[in-house]
Amino acid sequence: MEYSVAFIEGDGIGPEQAAATRTVLTKLEESHGLSLNLIPVEAGDRVVKDHGEALSKESFQVIRESDCCLKGPVGSSAYDVIIRLRRDLDLYANIRPAKSLPRVPCVGPPETDLVIVRENTEDLYCGLESADENRATATRVITRKACQRIATYAFETARTRRRSVTAIHKSNVLKKTDGLFLLTCREVAKSFPDVQFSDMLVDAAAMNLIRNPTNFDVIVTTNMFGDILSDEAAQVVGGLGLVPSANIGDNFALFEPVHGSAPDIAGKNCANPISLILSAAMMLEWLGREKNDPKSIEGAQKIQRAVEQSLISGKSTPDLGGELSTIEMGNAIAGYIS
Ligand code: NAI
Ligand code: MG
Repeated sequence: MEYSVAFIEGDGIGPEQAAATRTVLTKLEESHGLSLNLIPVEAGDRVVKDHGEALSKESFQVIRESDCCLKGPVGSSAYDVIIRLRRDLDLYANIRPAKSLPRVPCVGPPETDLVIVRENTEDLYCGLESADENRATATRVITRKACQRIATYAFETARTRRRSVTAIHKSNVLKKTDGLFLLTCREVAKSFPDVQFSDMLVDAAAMNLIRNPTNFDVIVTTNMFGDILSDEAAQVVGGLGLVPSANIGDNFALFEPVHGSAPDIAGKNCANPISLILSAAMMLEWLGREKNDPKSIEGAQKIQRAVEQSLISGKSTPDLGGELSTIEMGNAIAGYIS
């Protein structure tokens, strides 16, 4: 089976990470017999300069016609690229695992293994803002339908893991919006009596993620809290350079690092490519499940193992205290794929 993958390299460190990821995927194709047709798709700040818009109709069409999308980070055009893709393709579940990796210096204990299931289509990210000279407002939209489907996704995810869901909210202040979110999570919980359910205010959750990250299994939360907490969770397991994510809808999915274009280190070939490489692994796992293709799932596992073996053997980029460049790290990981 050949899969068509719309591949957005993105801005800043994106193209450097993309080169390393291509190396790993090419090695996997050669050794494992997988066939991926990576279709380059232009989007992001670079394109705005040349074409006046960050995501053209043509690019959107190519993405939509592919089996899935793999995306590097984009820069200040993020709203016009990723928020739009999430909304227009109805990619309602943003899955952001934070799992400790071997030999990585980090805040959390080595057993840390949690996943944030972030609602991905509404909340303050609907773009409903207005302002005059003296007053600006943003509208927060929370619907029962979106809460129901994200909570259901979280509980189903928990069934494949340690069977625990924590809903994170601020319903003591945002009584109507987070009130509806929490109420809906509680209703959905009744259909999953085999999964333990609890809830926590977002400020306390931010603290508990540092104090005791192993207490969390699946976190379900609204769009903006999920955005913020997932950067925090990334640092708990060693940093943004390591963590992948999936944006999942009923018929399509897009995979990308949690981080942005990292302008502070772009062009230096020192970014960690693991976040995009593990996003490609999540993509293969999703393709495998969607298309009923065990070979693709094995490919995902091979990438995960190769990343771990590279780290175990002390190979790492400067964000983890190592000396390898982005492309050298990609080569090292490719070297462990057999
Ligand atoms: P950022 O996530 O790009 O970087 C935060 C920090 O993490 C920086 O110090 C950076 O060097 C470091 N970092 C990130 N990825 C790394 C990697 N792979 N290896 C080593 N270090 C890494 O956040 P920032 O600087 O606030 O945002 C930059 C741009 O990214 C903004 O224009 C923003 O709009 C955009 N952005 C795009 C996203 C997307 O495409 N989905 C998501 C988040 C931000
Ligand atoms: Mg973010």
